[in-house]
Order: sequence, then C-alpha cells, then structure tokens
Amino acid sequence: MKSMSRNKSIIFLFSLFALLSISASYKKPSQMAKLMKKMLEYIKEEKVRIEKSEPLTAFPKYFKKLSTVKVTKTKDIPAEHQHYSEKFLHDLNVYYTSSNPEQRKSNFNLLVQSCISCHEQECPGPIVVIKKNFME
Ligand code: HEC
Repeated sequence: MKSMSRNKSIIFLFSLFALLSISASYKKPSQMAKLMKKMLEYIKEEKVRIEKSEPLTAFPKYFKKLSTVKVTKTKDIPAEHQHYSEKFLHDLNVYYTSSNPEQRKSNFNLLVQSCISCHEQECPGPIVVIKKNFME
C-alpha cells in the first residue's frame, strides 16, 4: 500500500512538471521563434532591396545563433537540425559573395530554398509565407 501511494505521488509530480513545462513554452515565444521572425524580416527587406537594385544590408551576424538557439520544448528537433543550420549559413555566405544582379537574384532564391528545406523537416507551418519571397 505504501509503495502504491508513492507511485501515485511520483505520477502526480511528473504530470505537474510536464504541465508546467508545456505552459512555460506557450507563454512566450522561444528564442528560435524570435530569431525566425527577424530572419523573415530580413528576407522580405532583402527582396525589396534587390528589386530596387540597392546594395546588400550589413551581414546579419546574429543568424549564426541558428544552430545553438533553443527551440520550443514541446517540438521534436531531429538530428539533422545542425545540418540544415549549416547549409543555411553556407548559402547566406554565398549570397554575400554575389558579384552581379543576376547572381544575387539566384543566390537569394537558393537562400529562400534553404529556409524551406529545413522547414519541410522541422516546421511546415510557415512555408507558405516563406515561399512568397522567391524572385522571378
Ligand atoms: C535549421 C532549420 C531552420 C531554418 C534554416 C529556418 N527555419 Fe524558420 N523555423 C525553424 C523552426 C524549428 C521553427 C519553429 C520555432 C519554434 O516554434 O520554436 C521555425 C519557425 C519559423 C517561423 C515562425 C516563427 C513564429 O512566429 O513562431 C518563421 C516565420 C520562420 N521560421 C521563417 C524562416 C525563414 C524566413 C527562414 C530563412 C531565412 C527560416 N525560417 C529558416 C527552423 C528553421
């Protein structure tokens, strides 16, 4: 009987903990979600700059956080996360080496594709919004 009630309290504590951690992650957006909002802003701005033939914005160094930043606790992140982060940062570097407008456009599309590749694996929701940024 004694061990029975101990089991119950373990289950109770465990449920409490699970509940608390779920509600904590709903309360405020994860660091990852915040970073992603900035990344979407960046893509949109950069698209306008290409259309207006304006020079590239300063290199967004803080994107490097992508591979280390915390994601919503309730979401499973596969081991490939590191791979997609690195691929994205690689494509970002390539974008910054563009030497003419045509190349800039195609490198930009590769970068947008790189957002989408990761999203197909980890978080399909925003793909529709991201896709709108491809350039003709
Ligand atoms: C390495 C994987 C990866 C790459 C690359 C990536 N994302 Fe994300 N993105 C995620 C994950 C995971 C989430 C979910 C974050 C969360 O809910 O904590 C997310 C969430 C988002 C969101 C929703 C944020 C919110 O309000 O909750 C937007 C918008 C977004 N990404 C846009 C982009 C754009 C634009 C790019 C490219 C410039 C990009 N992502 C590249 C993994 C990635």
